Amino acid sequence: MNYSIIRLDNYLDLAGRTGFYCNVSEYVCSKDPDVEIYLKEKALHHTNHDVSKTFLAVDEHLTIYGYYTLAIKCLAAPEPTPGAEVSRTFYHNLNAHDGVVQAFLIGQLSRADYSPKGLGAELLKEALKDLNTHRADLGCNAVRVDCHENMLGYYRDKGFRLMKKDPTTGLCHMVALLKQCL
Ligand SMILES: CC(C)(COP(=O)(O)OP(=O)(O)OC[C@H]1O[C@@H](n2cnc3c(N)ncnc32)[C@H](O)[C@@H]1OP(=O)(O)O)[C@@H](O)C(=O)NCCC(=O)NCCS
Repeated sequence: MNYSIIRLDNYLDLAGRTGFYCNVSEYVCSKDPDVEIYLKEKALHHTNHDVSKTFLAVDEHLTIYGYYTLAIKCLAAPEPTPGAEVSRTFYHNLNAHDGVVQAFLIGQLSRADYSPKGLGAELLKEALKDLNTHRADLGCNAVRVDCHENMLGYYRDKGFRLMKKDPTTGLCHMVALLKQCL
């Protein structure tokens, strides 16, 4: 499908606030309603307050087919726990200070139910390409995703490895090196 990727604040310049809320109300992501709610209720606020930036895949009518959200979120380099796929040496190459590593975060990744299968993988690649540009400028090589257990295989396939499972949220923290997963 033909689409372009546009940052949410630039989308607003084109569609206006009303246009955004009208188009986003049509967005459905039934595999994970949380990502649908994020786009409808939080993405704009986070973008406006520099918490994160959301990028939309849109067609010429500004229909939204998918999106991803990027941010910076440092991560604590944990002692390896049972099941962890990332060793201590991994963090040593990442400019760790006091056990804290600077990392980019792919906070959200979603494609709408009415978009073609595979769009999500394309958007993930675009997100990694964006971040790689920032890596070249800023020198941060780690990228993190926090996902549900059922998405472990998906992200492993894209080069991410399990760092730890958060016992409170149940989310799996996965990490990759930008230089290696592109
Ligand atoms: C994750 C996502 C962007 C991947 O898009 P894609 O690369 O185009 O690939 P698909 O949508 O075909 O999904 C790949 C596989 O993962 C499965 N999958 C995707 N999201 C899933 C979820 N939240 N729960 C369970 N399985 C899921 C799909 O059913 C599919 O399995 P299949 O190949 O056996 O049909 C898209 O499936 C999506 O929007 N999922 C819901 C949101 C989500 O889970 N995002 C990740 C949170 S970090």
